[in-house]
Amino acid sequence: MMLQVEGAYKSFGDFGAVNGANLTVSEGELVVVIGPNGAGKTTLFNLIAGQLKLDQGQILFGGENIAGLPPYEICERGIARSFQIANIFHRLTVFENVQVAVLAEQRKSTSLFRPAYNMAVEETNSILESVGLLHKAGNIAGALSHGDQRILEIAMALGNEPELLVLDEPTAGMSPEETFAAMELIQQLARERGITILLCEHDMDVVFSVAESIMVMHQGRTLLQDEPEAVRCNAEVQEAYLGVS
Ligand SMILES: Nc1ncnc2c1ncn2[C@@H]1O[C@H](COP(=O)(O)OP(=O)(O)O)[C@@H](O)[C@H]1O
Ligand SMILES: [Mg+2]
Repeated sequence: MMLQVEGAYKSFGDFGAVNGANLTVSEGELVVVIGPNGAGKTTLFNLIAGQLKLDQGQILFGGENIAGLPPYEICERGIARSFQIANIFHRLTVFENVQVAVLAEQRKSTSLFRPAYNMAVEETNSILESVGLLHKAGNIAGALSHGDQRILEIAMALGNEPELLVLDEPTAGMSPEETFAAMELIQQLARERGITILLCEHDMDVVFSVAESIMVMHQGRTLLQDEPEAVRCNAEVQEAYLGVS
């Protein structure tokens, strides 16, 4: 098991935003967390990536407890994430945005004497190519379309060479065409770069077309995690979330 969240709890004051969440992600899998607004999906991702500290429970990554580690350390161990609202450097170019991430990653393994380093040009270009933004490398990030900004954020996360990529509503605010292209891209990254993907998404058509495993959250709690077909057929899920009665 790559990632295992067991009995996670997180309260804000006396409100339990995450209230008994369980989640497993195997290597190479594409896992989608679903649940209505306010179900606790973002809070759960913040616990996994270290933006928040959990009150109770365990988060194991590669068998080691990472709960409570600071975000940079969790990132170093191989978890990179994007945010529900794109987090890019608006005044830098597309190239520079990704280069920053690649340089930060290389610095960890670079000796002072590594050939006056190549400024990460090759790796940056390779990432931009694999997300389809190479032809916009010189554009100012802030001037990109919303959809391209979200893709750029994924490209920046790739600069960290993650094993697990955590994406919070990667298609939020995208047109149907952009959504389709983005999900294709995410699946392709999983295949070509061997990255495991955990994401949350509200469009059920998208969810059921890409997910290999679905975890259903409701009021901070995990209702179940199972294969898409089993989730689709589950009566409790249909009632609580899919709006079928
Ligand atoms: N920093 C915070 N302080 C207080 N309440 C919060 C905070 N973050 C989230 N919440 C609350 O926790 C609940 C879960 O939020 P969130 O994890 O963002 O849900 P989701 O991503 O599933 O929509 C919501 O009711 C939200 O208002
Ligand atoms: Mg959210």
